[in-house]
Amino acid sequence: MDLGIKGKVALVAASSKGLGKAIAFALAGEGVNLSIFSRSKDSIELTASEIRRGGFQVDILPSVADVTDKEQIDEVIEATVEKFKGIDILINNAGGPPFGFFEDFESHDWQNALQLNLLSGIYLSRKIVPLMKKQNWGRIINITSVAVKQPIDGLILSNTSRAGLIGFSKTLSNELGEYNILVNNICPGRIYTDRIKTLAEKRAVQLGIKYEKAIEEMEKDIPLGRIGTPEELAALACFLASDKASYITGTTIQVDGGLLRGLF
Ligand SMILES: NC(=O)c1ccc[n+]([C@@H]2O[C@H](COP(=O)([O-])OP(=O)(O)OC[C@H]3O[C@@H](n4cnc5c(N)ncnc54)[C@H](OP(=O)(O)O)[C@@H]3O)[C@@H](O)[C@H]2O)c1
Repeated sequence: MDLGIKGKVALVAASSKGLGKAIAFALAGEGVNLSIFSRSKDSIELTASEIRRGGFQVDILPSVADVTDKEQIDEVIEATVEKFKGIDILINNAGGPPFGFFEDFESHDWQNALQLNLLSGIYLSRKIVPLMKKQNWGRIINITSVAVKQPIDGLILSNTSRAGLIGFSKTLSNELGEYNILVNNICPGRIYTDRIKTLAEKRAVQLGIKYEKAIEEMEKDIPLGRIGTPEELAALACFLASDKASYITGTTIQVDGGLLRGLF
């Protein structure tokens, strides 16, 4: 299927690894030019060169920036617009906040989590929406977590900050409909990236079991019986970013192999 986005420009945040990287690859496969960034120069340049080696007919601009640093984000946006003359697709993504329970955290931990998983997406949207409005076309896709539908024990920082992003993006989708800018959220369940590997390693140590056993434990309550791949999530991101998703906005869709048991 031709998704109809060849030649468009995507800014993919936090894209040197994991979900962001897989989304960048999938968009490149659709002929979308890419501005990608993360905090590590080596990692983001490595990812850019891997995508270039993929033989896609696209241009790539890798940058070093922290999603929580407004000046660095401004610089990325400026460089992107200078190179590509606009931004059509914004993928809001970041790392995840630390694991822990209510009494484990101080005020600065709460502020950092809100900055990382809520305010960064709001800031990027604030800067890029005016560009999208001018062209009467835009896609904003937020990478969140199934925690927005069912809070996950031991992840109170994530549960709290991501819920705010859902309220923000649903409201934004209402406001931006008339400009043909669509705003949607993707909720990963358990997708095999460094974040899941770290979690499995910790569980293995805590329970005194092997890493493979910890992964098996994590797969037990997933109806599809396995952890997902980043490419499986990237496929949805690509579709939502496309012209084919032209009547889908304000949604929050999980990619979780059936992990969540609720109706919505
Ligand atoms: N994988 C899952 O199963 C799963 C499930 C639920 C939710 N999520 C959420 O989905 C998001 C992506 O997860 P992932 O699994 O892809 O994680 P990952 O494999 O650990 O990759 C995180 C990426 O984000 C970049 N990054 C982290 N903090 C950043 C920051 N402050 N500024 C800019 N870039 C930053 C990292 O690169 P640098 O280190 O170079 O900055 C890396 O490229 C996270 O918010 C995670 O909590 C994931």
